[in-house]
Amino acid sequence: MARRVLVTGGAGYIGSHTVLQLLREGFYVVVVDNLDNSSEVAVQRVAELAGGFGKNLAFHRIDIQDKEALEKVFHTTKFDAVIHFAGLKAVGESVQKPLLYYKNNIIGTITLLEVMAAHGCKKLVFSSSATVYGWPKHLPCTEESPLHAMNPYGRTKLMIEEICRDVHHADNDWKIMLLRYFNPVGAHPSGHIGEDPRGIPNNLMPFIQQVAVGRRPSLTIFGTDYSTKDGTGVRDYIHVVDLADGHIAALKKFFDDPTTGCEAYNLGTGKGTSVFEMVTAFEKASGKKIPLILTARRPGDAETLYAGTAKAEKELKWKAKYGIEEMCRDQWNWAIKNPWGYGLPEPPN
Ligand code: NAD
Ligand code: UD1
Repeated sequence: MARRVLVTGGAGYIGSHTVLQLLREGFYVVVVDNLDNSSEVAVQRVAELAGGFGKNLAFHRIDIQDKEALEKVFHTTKFDAVIHFAGLKAVGESVQKPLLYYKNNIIGTITLLEVMAAHGCKKLVFSSSATVYGWPKHLPCTEESPLHAMNPYGRTKLMIEEICRDVHHADNDWKIMLLRYFNPVGAHPSGHIGEDPRGIPNNLMPFIQQVAVGRRPSLTIFGTDYSTKDGTGVRDYIHVVDLADGHIAALKKFFDDPTTGCEAYNLGTGKGTSVFEMVTAFEKASGKKIPLILTARRPGDAETLYAGTAKAEKELKWKAKYGIEEMCRDQWNWAIKNPWGYGLPEPPN
């Protein structure tokens, strides 16, 4: 019988790509999402892209803080594992509304863990972030690097990691993977699912994309005076399909390796790319010129961040396959097919 996986936040950017890979691998998937930052259209498209496997997907519009609603889902399906993406992720907003972030991300996770425990489901994959490394002194960041969150969003990730470590410490039956994503970009090569941020994008790639399709006039570059190859910030961009496959690898380890405990893994490529390099690669992929405004550093930004990938390669037997060229190609393909994401054009001002 197919293994059954609950995916919280499965309508979102990384979640939708992961659900598709799960279906294609033969898993039965139940998505719970409150659609706070996503669209049900993404779930429908995933079902279509999965072809015959699409029938193995169910969706419930649920807030994970709603314990009663979660209980109902666990009553109807016995899950083998949970992948937990649901959370708010805008750093700036988390500084303005810390309580919203602590409540949604931390209370939501505790509620989920309580319901999982009550139903004897003790395998969890959690979406952590490279943000837990703060501004690292030594590169690449390995899973042993010091942890230091710099804003409420980052602190929710760090606190949830700690909660997971404590839960596993108290009860060894829990198997937990803390996956620390570096910078997910790109889209499914079909161009039917991708990232669709609400409002003004916070992150580099969605912003570049919106400039390229004419939704915004220019890209503002935050800082050109870093001690990097060209003065702009350096990050480890990872294709979202590679990232999705990292979750399949994590699940396989749960099912194949009985010694799994509570472990953190970096999911990145190990390569650093500057903002200027990313802009050039996107211009090449799209054939569009991206007008630039050079401005001061964004507060709280690290200079350079990239992953040590040895642990994930060795223990998850997973390695990113795609490079910057494919990331830009697939992001552009999604952009031209869906210039307004899953929604309709914004009304003129
Ligand atoms: P996303 O916003 O596209 O997806 C998150 C999903 O969770 C959304 O569909 C949202 O509606 C849902 N959600 C939020 N709160 C919920 C709640 N209380 N109940 C039910 N659903 C809820 O974001 P994403 O980029 O796909 O990120 C997924 C996860 O990965 C998040 O936890 C995020 O913090 C983490 N992460 C993302 C990045 C990134 O750059 N995208 C990097 C590192 C970590
Ligand atoms: C941001 C978050 C981080 C989160 C990560 C992935 C902040 C301070 N950090 O990190 O917590 O884990 O996203 O969601 O928000 N840039 C520009 N112009 C832009 C946007 C970005 O020049 O309009 C630059 C940034 O300064 C940085 C690089 O592009 O050097 C990447 O930025 P971004 O995509 O926001 O990711 P992170 O800064 O890594």
